[in-house]
Amino acid sequence: MNEIPGYTEKSSRRDFLNYVLSIGFFGWIVAILYPLYSYLVPPKSPDVDVSNISIGKASEIENNSSKMFKMGNKPGILIKTKEGELRAFSATCTHLDCTVQFNKEENLIWCACHNGKYDLNGKNISGPPPSPLTPFNINVQKDEIYILK
Ligand code: FES
Repeated sequence: MNEIPGYTEKSSRRDFLNYVLSIGFFGWIVAILYPLYSYLVPPKSPDVDVSNISIGKASEIENNSSKMFKMGNKPGILIKTKEGELRAFSATCTHLDCTVQFNKEENLIWCACHNGKYDLNGKNISGPPPSPLTPFNINVQKDEIYILK
């Protein structure tokens, strides 16, 4: 019987086990790193171009309150002032893109990320936001509120 130099049955088993364990280890690394990568780098969602949406009944929104909505895949905010006037803006802060919210106690639009403040006309009045919020047009037909880009 021919013998292969350096070949023994024992080393062959060891090589095989090393091979199987290294594949398992590689799979384990991928199983840990891929979800971590997916979390840190979320997939890009395509921009949805929407220019006209219906967001509900005007009579169902109380004075001095707000309602969040989606304009495509971007957040928007509708504010009904103390006087009952409706105003709508992009809810994306012009500083670093956090979502703003209505602060009824201070009667302004507030960004919690860095304490940015906007008045109810969307104008930046305090904090780091460099520019006003983008306004949306509002059309109310038969009590239904339509937001127009
Ligand atoms: S992201 Fe809004 S103030 Fe910084």
